[in-house]
Amino acid sequence: MNTILSISNLYKTYQSGFQALKGINLEISKGEIFALLGQNGAGKTTLISIICGIVNPTSGQILVDGNDIIKDYREARELIGLVPQELSTDSFETVWNTVTFSRGLYGKAPEPALIEKILKDLSLWDKRNNKIMTLSGGMKRRVMIAKALSHEPKILFLDEPTAGVDVSLRKDMWNLVKILKNNGTTVILTTHYIEEAEEMADRIGIIRSGELIMVDNKLALMNKLGKKELTLQLQQPLENLPKELDLLGLVLSEDKYELTYHFDANDGDIDIAQLLQKISNLGVVFKDLYTKQSSLEEIFVNLVNAEANTNEA
Ligand SMILES: Nc1ncnc2c1ncn2[C@@H]1O[C@H](COP(=O)(O)OP(=O)(O)OP(=O)(O)O)[C@@H](O)[C@H]1O
Ligand SMILES: [Mg+2]
Repeated sequence: MNTILSISNLYKTYQSGFQALKGINLEISKGEIFALLGQNGAGKTTLISIICGIVNPTSGQILVDGNDIIKDYREARELIGLVPQELSTDSFETVWNTVTFSRGLYGKAPEPALIEKILKDLSLWDKRNNKIMTLSGGMKRRVMIAKALSHEPKILFLDEPTAGVDVSLRKDMWNLVKILKNNGTTVILTTHYIEEAEEMADRIGIIRSGELIMVDNKLALMNKLGKKELTLQLQQPLENLPKELDLLGLVLSEDKYELTYHFDANDGDIDIAQLLQKISNLGVVFKDLYTKQSSLEEIFVNLVNAEANTNEA
């Protein structure tokens, strides 16, 4: 693994005494798209803010491409672009000037062609001479992204990039992330739209009360925790569920036209062919069969609920 970001034993206790991060360990490889999921207050913004040098860690170490975020602050910061959760872009400046200035802040030589490309990629080109304060919320968010990209960061942090934006901007954002990925940029994003993580991420981390409770490859996560369901649509309604099928765990729908079988993706040894053979041996004829696998959304909700139940116990 070609690590670009390495976080070890990271703790954060705010001045109020609130412990927001409790021993985070995480390695991100170059070019990866990593989605951080977690409920409000889980610690996502705190984690990102520490990596970006906005909030001080209480203890632990973070290396950005080998540069310690405290000792080698400048080097580390140069490699990072951040689109913060809270927008702060009300300004009398134009889009063009704001983005150009942002690049200058990193001590990089002006490169109008690059700024032009970024503004075009973000559909901001037409607005380049508009003052920021005259833009809509979604466009302001695009400007924030343009600013973060202006100094060609190797890692881009997007903290809730699509909160409160319309579907078209969300799709644009997904496309942009794909373009960045193709250019080799590493992207770390937080989101409440699990659909978004499902669409974009290579790996997913779930953070709860300051702890990373799970980090996994997206597909592995869906396989491991997802429930699969096999449904048979019957030719004719089945008056009673045969004992043998009941014992196998099949369930008959209320209208008696459907048989459903739930199995954990883990139980790889369930043989569907055998199951179907048994069903037809019993004279049950089905006209259609389909399977359904849980979405990341269902997995996430189940995880959070399972945790809530444990806490109550
Ligand atoms: N400056 C601060 N002082 C004290 N507590 C803070 C401070 N900033 C954040 N917190 C607390 O730390 C916890 C984590 O906050 P954080 O903003 O990291 O959560 P988050 O996962 O980004 O949530 P959201 O999804 O709402 O953006 C919260 O309980 C929050 O109240
Ligand atoms: Mg946040």
